Amino acid sequence: MTSILVLNGPNLNLLGQRQPDVYGSATLADIEKMCRAKAKSLGVDLEFRQSNDEGALLDMIHAARGVHIGIILNAGAYTHTSIALRDAISSVELPVIELHLSNIHAREEFRHHSYISGVSLGMICGFGAAGYPMAVEALHRHLGGAG
Ligand code: DQA
Repeated sequence: MTSILVLNGPNLNLLGQRQPDVYGSATLADIEKMCRAKAKSLGVDLEFRQSNDEGALLDMIHAARGVHIGIILNAGAYTHTSIALRDAISSVELPVIELHLSNIHAREEFRHHSYISGVSLGMICGFGAAGYPMAVEALHRHLGGAG
């Protein structure tokens, strides 16, 4: 089993049109292609999902157990609000890399706190779309693969 789940939360389906000054011009489909290319080069499978629904994200995290070796999670605004997502991560005991396109610490104060960070392996933020393949590589390396 060598599959990584890349999970995207609310409003990330709008990437490309959504505040390009903050989030860049790449669409979510562009980012998926970048992740798939990186996964292919590392010899791992990848599932790429997005939902605007907190409950659906919870279900996807639950379903990852026994299927994926780790999760890359851009929880969008749920990062700053969702104890439920944090509990789901703790429950499935899979390594999670928290990801944000923007540098959440250089933005409004309400974005500085993350419920996800405390249960994550690490966090990549501020590198735009390029952060996604970085996260795929970091997770693969953490799990013992050569980067
Ligand atoms: C985000 C940062 C969050 O604060 C914001 O709510 C998002 C996107 C990012 O990728 O930079 O929706 O997770």
